[in-house]
Amino acid sequence: MSFLRVPLLDLPAQYATLREELRAAVEDIFERQAFVLGEPVAAFEREMATFCEARRAVACASGSDALLLSLHALGVGPADEVLCPSFTFFATAGAVARLGARPVFVDIDPASYCLDPAAARAAAARCKRLRAIVAVHLYGRPADNDALLALASEYGVPLVEDAAQAIGARDASGRRIGGRGQAVCFSFYPTKNLGGAGDGGLITTDDEALAERLASLRVHGSPRRYQHDEVGMNSRLDALQAAVLRIKLRHLEAWNAARGAHVRGYDAAFSAAGARPSSTPLRAGGFPVRTPAPCAPPAESAHHLYTIRVPAERRDGLRAHLTARGIGHDVYYPLGLHQQPCFAALPPASLPETEAAAREVLALPLYPELRDEQREHVVASVLEGLAD
Ligand SMILES: Cc1ncc(COP(=O)(O)O)c(C=O)c1O
Repeated sequence: MSFLRVPLLDLPAQYATLREELRAAVEDIFERQAFVLGEPVAAFEREMATFCEARRAVACASGSDALLLSLHALGVGPADEVLCPSFTFFATAGAVARLGARPVFVDIDPASYCLDPAAARAAAARCKRLRAIVAVHLYGRPADNDALLALASEYGVPLVEDAAQAIGARDASGRRIGGRGQAVCFSFYPTKNLGGAGDGGLITTDDEALAERLASLRVHGSPRRYQHDEVGMNSRLDALQAAVLRIKLRHLEAWNAARGAHVRGYDAAFSAAGARPSSTPLRAGGFPVRTPAPCAPPAESAHHLYTIRVPAERRDGLRAHLTARGIGHDVYYPLGLHQQPCFAALPPASLPETEAAAREVLALPLYPELRDEQREHVVASVLEGLAD
Protein backbone atom coordinates (compact mmCIF):
# COMPACT_ATOMS: atom_id res chain seq x y z
CA MET A 1 0.00 0.00 0.00
CA SER A 2 1.27 3.50 -0.84
CA PHE A 3 2.15 6.05 1.86
CA LEU A 4 -0.11 9.10 2.03
CA ARG A 5 0.07 11.31 5.11
CA VAL A 6 -3.39 12.03 6.54
CA PRO A 7 -3.36 14.20 9.68
CA LEU A 8 -6.18 13.89 12.18
CA LEU A 9 -6.95 17.57 11.52
CA ASP A 10 -5.41 19.95 8.96
CA LEU A 11 -5.73 23.54 10.17
CA PRO A 12 -3.05 24.89 7.77
CA ALA A 13 -5.24 23.70 4.86
CA GLN A 14 -8.16 25.76 6.23
CA TYR A 15 -5.95 28.79 6.84
CA ALA A 16 -4.73 28.66 3.23
CA THR A 17 -8.32 29.27 2.05
CA LEU A 18 -8.86 32.31 4.33
CA ARG A 19 -5.39 33.87 4.68
CA GLU A 20 -6.07 37.30 3.08
CA GLU A 21 -9.45 37.81 4.74
CA LEU A 22 -8.16 36.85 8.19
CA ARG A 23 -5.06 39.02 7.92
CA ALA A 24 -7.14 42.06 6.91
CA ALA A 25 -9.51 41.52 9.87
CA VAL A 26 -6.62 41.17 12.33
CA GLU A 27 -4.94 44.28 10.89
CA ASP A 28 -8.21 46.19 11.38
CA ILE A 29 -8.27 45.30 15.10
CA PHE A 30 -4.67 46.46 15.46
CA GLU A 31 -5.55 49.76 13.76
CA ARG A 32 -8.38 50.26 16.27
CA GLN A 33 -6.27 49.17 19.30
CA ALA A 34 -9.41 48.04 21.18
CA PHE A 35 -8.70 44.46 22.10
CA VAL A 36 -11.26 43.24 24.64
CA LEU A 37 -15.04 42.87 24.06
CA GLY A 38 -16.34 45.95 22.16
CA GLU A 39 -18.20 46.10 18.85
CA PRO A 40 -16.51 43.12 17.15
CA VAL A 41 -17.59 40.87 20.04
CA ALA A 42 -21.12 42.37 20.15
CA ALA A 43 -21.47 41.78 16.39
CA PHE A 44 -20.25 38.20 16.74
CA GLU A 45 -22.76 37.62 19.58
CA ARG A 46 -25.61 38.85 17.36
CA GLU A 47 -24.48 36.63 14.49
CA MET A 48 -24.16 33.58 16.73
CA ALA A 49 -27.63 34.17 18.21
CA THR A 50 -29.04 34.28 14.68
CA PHE A 51 -27.09 31.18 13.61
CA CYS A 52 -28.27 29.21 16.66
CA GLU A 53 -31.87 30.49 16.39
CA ALA A 54 -31.56 31.84 19.96
CA ARG A 55 -32.58 35.19 21.44
CA ARG A 56 -29.25 36.01 23.03
CA ALA A 57 -25.60 35.00 22.89
CA VAL A 58 -22.97 35.99 25.47
CA ALA A 59 -19.32 35.47 24.55
CA CYS A 60 -16.63 34.56 27.08
CA ALA A 61 -13.04 33.34 27.26
CA SER A 62 -13.49 29.58 26.68
CA GLY A 63 -15.96 26.72 26.49
CA SER A 64 -14.90 25.74 30.01
CA ASP A 65 -15.84 29.22 31.26
CA ALA A 66 -19.13 29.07 29.34
CA LEU A 67 -20.04 26.02 31.45
CA LEU A 68 -18.81 27.59 34.68
CA LEU A 69 -20.64 30.88 34.06
CA SER A 70 -23.87 29.09 33.07
CA LEU A 71 -23.95 26.80 36.10
CA HIS A 72 -23.09 29.74 38.39
CA ALA A 73 -25.78 31.97 36.84
CA LEU A 74 -28.34 29.17 37.20
CA GLY A 75 -27.64 28.98 40.92
CA VAL A 76 -25.51 25.83 41.21
CA GLY A 77 -23.46 26.01 44.41
CA PRO A 78 -21.90 24.08 47.27
CA ALA A 79 -23.42 20.67 48.11
CA ASP A 80 -25.69 20.71 45.05
CA GLU A 81 -25.82 17.65 42.81
CA VAL A 82 -25.53 17.95 39.03
CA LEU A 83 -26.11 15.05 36.64
CA CYS A 84 -23.56 14.82 33.84
CA PRO A 85 -21.91 12.21 31.65
CA SER A 86 -18.54 10.75 32.57
CA PHE A 87 -17.67 10.06 28.93
CA THR A 88 -16.77 13.65 27.96
CA PHE A 89 -14.01 16.24 28.11
CA PHE A 90 -12.96 17.17 31.65
CA ALA A 91 -14.50 20.67 31.60
CA THR A 92 -18.07 19.30 31.70
CA ALA A 93 -17.67 18.01 35.25
CA GLY A 94 -14.80 20.36 36.19
CA ALA A 95 -17.21 23.30 36.04
CA VAL A 96 -19.59 21.54 38.43
CA ALA A 97 -16.82 20.78 40.93
CA ARG A 98 -15.34 24.31 40.70
CA LEU A 99 -18.64 25.65 42.07
CA GLY A 100 -18.43 23.30 45.05
CA ALA A 101 -21.19 21.09 43.66
CA ARG A 102 -20.98 17.33 43.15
CA PRO A 103 -20.98 15.78 39.67
CA VAL A 104 -23.27 12.75 39.63
CA PHE A 105 -21.97 10.70 36.73
CA VAL A 106 -24.51 9.03 34.46
CA ASP A 107 -23.85 6.35 31.85
CA ILE A 108 -24.14 6.88 28.10
CA ASP A 109 -26.32 5.35 25.44
CA PRO A 110 -23.74 3.22 23.57
CA ALA A 111 -25.23 4.06 20.16
CA SER A 112 -25.03 7.86 20.50
CA TYR A 113 -22.29 8.17 23.18
CA CYS A 114 -24.53 10.83 24.82
CA LEU A 115 -26.36 10.74 28.19
CA ASP A 116 -28.73 7.80 28.46
CA PRO A 117 -32.06 9.40 29.48
CA ALA A 118 -33.20 6.26 31.35
CA ALA A 119 -29.97 6.19 33.37
CA ALA A 120 -30.35 9.94 34.01
CA ARG A 121 -33.89 9.37 35.29
CA ALA A 122 -32.70 6.65 37.68
CA ALA A 123 -29.82 8.85 38.91
CA ALA A 124 -32.14 11.85 39.41
CA ALA A 125 -34.41 9.72 41.60
CA ARG A 126 -31.42 8.91 43.87
CA CYS A 127 -30.33 12.57 44.26
CA LYS A 128 -31.14 14.53 47.40
CA ARG A 129 -30.18 17.99 46.07
CA LEU A 130 -30.43 17.80 42.30
CA ARG A 131 -29.76 21.32 40.99
CA ALA A 132 -29.07 20.90 37.25
CA ILE A 133 -28.51 18.44 34.42
CA VAL A 134 -25.64 18.86 31.96
CA ALA A 135 -25.98 17.09 28.60
CA VAL A 136 -23.07 16.82 26.17
CA HIS A 137 -23.62 16.61 22.41
CA LEU A 138 -20.58 14.40 21.98
CA TYR A 139 -18.68 14.15 18.70
CA GLY A 140 -21.21 16.63 17.24
CA ARG A 141 -24.21 14.33 17.67
CA PRO A 142 -27.22 15.82 19.49
CA ALA A 143 -28.15 14.25 22.81
CA ASP A 144 -31.80 13.33 23.42
CA ASN A 145 -32.93 16.87 24.28
CA ASP A 146 -36.64 15.96 24.32
CA ALA A 147 -36.20 13.33 27.03
CA LEU A 148 -33.66 15.36 29.01
CA LEU A 149 -35.67 18.61 28.90
CA ALA A 150 -38.73 16.65 30.10
CA LEU A 151 -36.71 15.12 32.96
CA ALA A 152 -35.24 18.52 33.92
CA SER A 153 -38.65 20.15 34.00
CA GLU A 154 -40.08 17.29 36.08
CA TYR A 155 -37.43 18.01 38.71
CA GLY A 156 -37.68 21.80 38.27
CA VAL A 157 -33.99 22.11 37.37
CA PRO A 158 -32.31 23.60 34.27
CA LEU A 159 -30.78 21.61 31.43
CA VAL A 160 -27.38 23.04 30.52
CA GLU A 161 -26.09 21.83 27.16
CA ASP A 162 -22.38 21.36 26.53
CA ALA A 163 -22.34 21.99 22.78
CA ALA A 164 -18.58 22.51 22.53
CA GLN A 165 -18.46 19.84 19.81
CA ALA A 166 -21.87 20.42 18.23
CA ILE A 167 -22.08 23.87 16.68
CA GLY A 168 -24.51 23.70 13.75
CA ALA A 169 -26.15 20.41 14.82
CA ARG A 170 -29.93 20.05 15.11
CA ASP A 171 -31.80 18.04 17.73
CA ALA A 172 -34.75 15.70 17.12
CA SER A 173 -37.14 18.66 17.04
CA GLY A 174 -35.19 20.07 14.08
CA ARG A 175 -34.11 23.11 16.15
CA ARG A 176 -30.50 24.22 16.00
CA ILE A 177 -28.46 23.21 19.03
CA GLY A 178 -28.30 26.47 20.97
CA GLY A 179 -31.85 27.52 20.19
CA ARG A 180 -33.72 25.48 22.74
CA GLY A 181 -31.90 24.90 26.02
CA GLN A 182 -31.80 27.27 28.96
CA ALA A 183 -28.05 27.74 28.56
CA VAL A 184 -26.10 26.20 25.69
CA CYS A 185 -22.31 26.35 25.88
CA PHE A 186 -19.95 26.53 22.89
CA SER A 187 -16.16 26.38 22.57
CA PHE A 188 -14.06 28.03 19.90
CA TYR A 189 -10.90 26.11 20.76
CA PRO A 190 -8.91 26.03 17.49
CA THR A 191 -9.70 22.36 16.73
CA LYS A 192 -13.49 22.82 16.97
CA ASN A 193 -15.75 23.05 13.89
CA LEU A 194 -15.69 26.84 14.43
CA GLY A 195 -12.21 27.37 15.80
CA GLY A 196 -10.62 30.68 16.80
CA ALA A 197 -6.98 31.72 16.89
CA GLY A 198 -6.81 30.85 20.58
CA ASP A 199 -9.36 30.22 23.30
CA GLY A 200 -12.95 31.43 23.17
CA GLY A 201 -16.44 30.43 24.25
CA LEU A 202 -20.07 31.53 24.18
CA ILE A 203 -23.45 30.81 25.77
CA THR A 204 -26.79 31.04 23.96
CA THR A 205 -30.09 31.42 25.79
CA ASP A 206 -33.64 32.63 25.22
CA ASP A 207 -33.74 34.01 28.77
CA GLU A 208 -32.97 37.77 28.67
CA ALA A 209 -32.41 38.02 32.44
CA LEU A 210 -29.98 35.08 32.36
CA ALA A 211 -28.10 36.69 29.45
CA GLU A 212 -27.72 39.93 31.43
CA ARG A 213 -26.46 38.02 34.46
CA LEU A 214 -23.96 36.08 32.33
CA ALA A 215 -22.73 39.34 30.76
CA SER A 216 -22.21 40.75 34.25
CA LEU A 217 -20.59 37.61 35.70
CA ARG A 218 -17.96 37.57 32.91
CA VAL A 219 -16.74 41.01 34.09
CA HIS A 220 -16.49 40.35 37.84
CA GLY A 221 -20.23 40.61 38.46
CA SER A 222 -20.23 44.18 37.29
CA PRO A 223 -23.24 45.41 35.28
CA ARG A 224 -21.77 48.96 35.37
CA ARG A 225 -18.18 50.16 35.79
CA TYR A 226 -17.02 49.87 39.42
CA GLN A 227 -20.37 48.50 40.62
CA HIS A 228 -20.13 44.83 41.67
CA ASP A 229 -23.47 43.20 42.42
CA GLU A 230 -21.88 39.78 42.99
CA VAL A 231 -18.50 38.08 42.70
CA GLY A 232 -17.93 36.96 39.12
CA MET A 233 -14.79 36.32 37.14
CA ASN A 234 -12.73 37.72 34.27
CA SER A 235 -13.89 35.80 31.22
CA ARG A 236 -14.07 38.15 28.26
CA LEU A 237 -13.68 37.35 24.57
CA ASP A 238 -10.93 39.24 22.72
CA ALA A 239 -11.85 41.40 19.75
CA LEU A 240 -9.20 39.56 17.73
CA GLN A 241 -10.98 36.27 18.34
CA ALA A 242 -14.36 37.77 17.42
CA ALA A 243 -12.93 39.16 14.17
CA VAL A 244 -11.52 35.75 13.21
CA LEU A 245 -14.66 33.87 14.27
CA ARG A 246 -16.99 36.23 12.34
CA ILE A 247 -15.17 35.37 9.13
CA LYS A 248 -15.15 31.65 9.82
CA LEU A 249 -18.83 31.58 10.88
CA ARG A 250 -19.80 32.49 7.29
CA HIS A 251 -18.23 29.19 6.15
CA LEU A 252 -19.49 26.98 8.95
CA GLU A 253 -22.56 25.50 7.22
CA ALA A 254 -20.54 24.61 4.12
CA TRP A 255 -17.78 23.15 6.30
CA ASN A 256 -20.23 21.04 8.30
CA ALA A 257 -21.82 19.83 5.05
CA ALA A 258 -18.37 18.83 3.73
CA ARG A 259 -17.74 16.94 6.97
CA GLY A 260 -21.11 15.20 6.51
CA ALA A 261 -20.15 14.11 2.98
CA HIS A 262 -16.96 12.54 4.34
CA VAL A 263 -18.95 10.79 7.07
CA ARG A 264 -21.20 9.25 4.40
CA GLY A 265 -18.11 8.22 2.44
CA TYR A 266 -16.57 6.57 5.50
CA ASP A 267 -19.87 4.87 6.44
CA ALA A 268 -20.36 3.45 2.93
CA ALA A 269 -16.81 2.11 2.70
CA PHE A 270 -16.83 0.53 6.18
CA SER A 271 -20.31 -0.88 5.65
CA ALA A 272 -19.18 -2.48 2.35
CA ALA A 273 -16.47 -4.23 4.40
CA GLY A 274 -19.11 -5.56 6.83
CA ALA A 275 -19.06 -2.92 9.59
CA ARG A 276 -22.29 -2.11 11.37
CA PRO A 277 -23.43 1.09 13.15
CA SER A 278 -22.73 1.61 16.86
CA SER A 279 -26.34 0.63 17.65
CA THR A 280 -25.15 -2.98 17.22
CA PRO A 281 -22.76 -3.83 20.07
CA LEU A 282 -19.33 -5.25 19.20
CA ARG A 283 -20.18 -8.34 21.23
CA ALA A 284 -22.83 -9.19 18.59
CA GLY A 285 -19.85 -10.26 16.46
CA GLY A 286 -19.28 -9.91 12.73
CA PHE A 287 -16.78 -7.48 11.25
CA PRO A 288 -14.95 -5.85 14.19
CA VAL A 289 -15.77 -2.21 13.38
CA ARG A 290 -18.74 -0.12 14.46
CA THR A 291 -19.41 3.20 12.70
CA PRO A 292 -21.21 6.19 14.30
CA ALA A 293 -24.98 5.53 14.25
CA PRO A 294 -26.57 8.16 11.97
CA CYS A 295 -29.12 10.64 13.39
CA ALA A 296 -32.74 10.27 12.35
CA PRO A 297 -33.88 13.44 10.48
CA PRO A 298 -34.69 16.21 11.27
CA ALA A 299 -31.85 15.69 13.80
CA GLU A 300 -28.43 16.42 12.31
CA SER A 301 -24.95 15.91 13.64
CA ALA A 302 -22.30 18.61 13.36
CA HIS A 303 -19.88 15.77 12.47
CA HIS A 304 -17.14 17.01 14.77
CA LEU A 305 -15.36 13.65 15.07
CA TYR A 306 -15.64 10.41 13.11
CA THR A 307 -15.30 7.85 15.86
CA ILE A 308 -15.31 4.13 15.14
CA ARG A 309 -15.35 1.34 17.70
CA VAL A 310 -13.06 -1.68 17.60
CA PRO A 311 -12.51 -4.50 20.11
CA ALA A 312 -10.44 -3.21 23.03
CA GLU A 313 -7.73 -5.85 22.60
CA ARG A 314 -7.19 -4.80 18.97
CA ARG A 315 -7.14 -1.01 19.39
CA ASP A 316 -3.45 -0.55 20.29
CA GLY A 317 -2.34 -2.72 17.38
CA LEU A 318 -4.55 -0.80 14.99
CA ARG A 319 -3.21 2.51 16.30
CA ALA A 320 0.37 1.36 15.75
CA HIS A 321 -0.51 0.31 12.22
CA LEU A 322 -2.16 3.68 11.45
CA THR A 323 0.83 5.56 12.87
CA ALA A 324 3.16 3.54 10.62
CA ARG A 325 0.93 4.47 7.67
CA GLY A 326 1.09 8.21 8.51
CA ILE A 327 -2.55 8.40 9.56
CA GLY A 328 -3.62 10.62 12.44
CA HIS A 329 -5.99 9.18 15.02
CA ASP A 330 -6.82 9.70 18.69
CA VAL A 331 -8.95 8.41 21.54
CA TYR A 332 -11.65 10.71 22.93
CA TYR A 333 -11.65 9.72 25.79
CA PRO A 334 -9.44 6.97 27.20
CA LEU A 335 -10.91 7.22 30.73
CA GLY A 336 -14.30 8.11 32.11
CA LEU A 337 -14.20 11.16 34.37
CA HIS A 338 -15.40 8.97 37.25
CA GLN A 339 -12.03 7.16 36.87
CA GLN A 340 -9.97 10.36 37.22
CA PRO A 341 -7.87 10.79 40.39
CA CYS A 342 -9.47 14.16 41.22
CA PHE A 343 -12.90 12.50 41.51
CA ALA A 344 -11.72 9.49 43.50
CA ALA A 345 -13.46 10.73 46.65
CA LEU A 346 -16.90 10.70 45.00
CA PRO A 347 -19.19 7.73 45.65
CA PRO A 348 -18.25 4.92 43.23
CA ALA A 349 -20.29 4.90 40.02
CA SER A 350 -21.15 1.88 37.91
CA LEU A 351 -20.86 3.04 34.30
CA PRO A 352 -20.22 -0.04 32.14
CA GLU A 353 -21.09 1.64 28.81
CA THR A 354 -18.73 4.54 29.54
CA GLU A 355 -15.88 2.20 30.46
CA ALA A 356 -16.43 0.00 27.39
CA ALA A 357 -16.52 3.03 25.06
CA ALA A 358 -13.31 4.39 26.64
CA ARG A 359 -11.58 1.10 25.77
CA GLU A 360 -12.97 0.78 22.24
CA VAL A 361 -13.40 4.16 20.51
CA LEU A 362 -10.98 5.54 17.94
CA ALA A 363 -11.33 8.86 16.09
CA LEU A 364 -10.21 9.01 12.45
CA PRO A 365 -9.35 12.09 10.31
CA LEU A 366 -12.38 14.30 9.60
CA TYR A 367 -12.30 17.89 8.34
CA PRO A 368 -13.76 19.79 5.39
CA GLU A 369 -10.45 19.94 3.51
CA LEU A 370 -9.92 16.14 3.70
CA ARG A 371 -9.54 14.78 0.17
CA ASP A 372 -11.50 11.71 -0.97
CA GLU A 373 -8.30 9.83 -1.74
CA GLN A 374 -7.08 10.54 1.80
CA ARG A 375 -10.32 9.22 3.27
CA GLU A 376 -10.12 6.10 1.09
CA HIS A 377 -6.54 5.59 2.26
CA VAL A 378 -7.69 5.83 5.90
CA VAL A 379 -10.37 3.18 5.34
CA ALA A 380 -7.99 0.87 3.47
CA SER A 381 -5.41 1.25 6.25
CA VAL A 382 -7.96 0.49 8.99
CA LEU A 383 -9.10 -2.63 7.14
CA GLU A 384 -5.50 -3.70 6.59
CA GLY A 385 -4.69 -3.06 10.26
CA LEU A 386 -7.56 -5.30 11.35
CA ALA A 387 -6.88 -8.12 8.87
CA ASP A 388 -5.93 -11.27 10.77
C1 LIG B 1 -17.25 18.41 25.35
C2 LIG B 1 -16.40 19.61 25.69
N1 LIG B 1 -16.75 20.38 26.74
C3 LIG B 1 -16.04 21.47 27.07
C4 LIG B 1 -14.92 21.84 26.36
C5 LIG B 1 -14.12 22.99 26.87
O1 LIG B 1 -13.91 24.00 25.93
P1 LIG B 1 -12.60 24.90 26.01
O2 LIG B 1 -11.43 24.07 25.59
O3 LIG B 1 -12.91 26.02 25.03
O4 LIG B 1 -12.48 25.41 27.38
C6 LIG B 1 -14.52 21.07 25.26
C7 LIG B 1 -13.37 21.45 24.42
O5 LIG B 1 -12.24 21.27 24.62
C8 LIG B 1 -15.27 19.92 24.92
O6 LIG B 1 -14.91 19.13 23.89
